[in-house]
Amino acid sequence: MKPKAIQILPSILSARMGYLAEDCRRALDAGADGLHVDIMDGHFVPNLTMGPDILRAVREALPRAYLSVHLMIMRPDLYAPRFIAAGADTVLVHVESPCDLRATLTAIRSAGKRAGLTLNPETPVAALQGYEELLDEVLVMTVHPGFGGQEFIAGGLPKIAEIVRRLPAVDVSVDGGIHAETGVQCVAAGANVLLAGSFLFKAADMRDAIANLRWKAESARKAGG
Ligand code: DX5
Ligand code: ZN
Repeated sequence: MKPKAIQILPSILSARMGYLAEDCRRALDAGADGLHVDIMDGHFVPNLTMGPDILRAVREALPRAYLSVHLMIMRPDLYAPRFIAAGADTVLVHVESPCDLRATLTAIRSAGKRAGLTLNPETPVAALQGYEELLDEVLVMTVHPGFGGQEFIAGGLPKIAEIVRRLPAVDVSVDGGIHAETGVQCVAAGANVLLAGSFLFKAADMRDAIANLRWKAESARKAGG
């Protein structure tokens, strides 16, 4: 199987909300492969962020950008179609969300978009069972979702390796506490999509930070064969 391309997606949770379009453009100009958009409803996680109208504003500002939307909400079944209408390319749903996941993933795919399931730090890989054929991506959380700037939880690393073994064709992404060192560990474990908020948006030079992360990630992959 051809190795999956390394993708680096800045999380716009760490962008300046008053300058959102400008910061999104800056991230893409700095070499990002797309943008990660965190949606929180104040129930599934103890924080509130953006709704479909903000995603639409990002889409309008950047018509060709790849937008991956991470739904940390109780009812992704109700809202996934609205985020797709607003411009999502990928919709990542939490496996812990109390709704019909099969119907949700099927609806995302039927709309021609990429579907993924996300695992919280305490959720085992076995929770993916039964959904395998509906997945384009699996996202491993390496922080408790809700806030940027938290410390990486290394317990995600063996889960990444297990997902790669079980589902070799899906993209494996990782979210939370990603910087050059933790990003390398995740890629060495088999991840190919790195989501990073504070590390990239707070970098003195985002272009350097992305180039450095990509170079280290690609080297780690080559070293791992
Ligand atoms: C956390 C979000 C992350 C967040 C990561 O719940 O899902 O995407 O932006 O932020 P950092 O990279 O700062 O840990
Ligand atoms: Zn996220």
